[in-house]
Amino acid sequence: MKINKLTESELTSGKVLSEKNAAFADMLSTLIIDEWEAINGYQGVIQSMKNMKMSQKVIDILQSIMAEEHAHVGELHKVLALINPDSEAQIDHGKEEAEEIIK
Ligand SMILES: [Fe+2]
Repeated sequence: MKINKLTESELTSGKVLSEKNAAFADMLSTLIIDEWEAINGYQGVIQSMKNMKMSQKVIDILQSIMAEEHAHVGELHKVLALINPDSEAQIDHGKEEAEEIIK
């Protein structure tokens, strides 16, 4: 798949999303899923190590790596928001709905 380079104005205008950025948005969504799968993998290993009373140092390192994966999710969400501002608006809307529930 050939992807055209985007200019800064194209990134911020939002109007080219449907034609030019949709493929990027799909790829970013896949990368975000990959990061969550990695996080799930670390969580499983960490829990197993805790259950087996493994070295806390080893667990600490894995937890640090897992935290980095969470940061990657945040970074990718920011990139996705630049490519598709609607995605950020939809996430913000979900946060607002959740806030209403827990008021
Ligand atoms: Fe990552």
